[in-house]
Amino acid sequence: MTGIIESWFLWLENTAIAIEIRQSLWLYPVIQFFHIAGIVFLVGSIMIFDLRLLGVARRLDADILGRSMVRISKAGFLITILSGFLLFIAHATDWAENPLFWIKILLIIIAVLNAVFFNKLILNRIHRWETYGNLPLRVRASGVVSLLLWFIIIAAGRFLAYY
Ligand code: HEM
Repeated sequence: MTGIIESWFLWLENTAIAIEIRQSLWLYPVIQFFHIAGIVFLVGSIMIFDLRLLGVARRLDADILGRSMVRISKAGFLITILSGFLLFIAHATDWAENPLFWIKILLIIIAVLNAVFFNKLILNRIHRWETYGNLPLRVRASGVVSLLLWFIIIAAGRFLAYY
């Protein structure tokens, strides 16, 4: 780590809120709970839509389902990011030295870009296809990529505690 970045993480770790989270017996686990709860909303809603793209529940209109799920994904994303940031600052210098943490962040950026790209390109065109029944192969492939990415991110997050 270069000096400036290192001192920035050190500063983060020594903010009043980071010290409070580190010293409190219950704050860290409560924030972990919110991280998991956020993930349930974020990945749960994405998974419902991805499975629909893959052909599950074909009787449901993919357009309406997709648009309804986006709102839940956004709320879940916000909770997950905020809680993740609080978990991070409590031990910022340790997490920053862990390559797995940065791999996870990189994968999150890729997954978010995939979701934004998907939202723009596919969700805006979905009404052109038959939204009941099977969707085109490229749309189904996008569902597989999205599911894989989010599951790998969850695994990376869980493994963080052991590396
Ligand atoms: C947005 C998608 C994210 C997903 C799906 C995700 C997933 C996870 C999962 C499954 C865990 C393990 C939780 C546990 O074992 O209690 C975890 C832990 C963690 N996450 Fe995330 N995370 C996300 C975003 C973030 C972000 C943006 C940050 C930091 C800025 C972050 C920081 C952390 C930290 C520091 C831990 C370790 C907690 C510990 O084991 O003590 N996460 N994450």
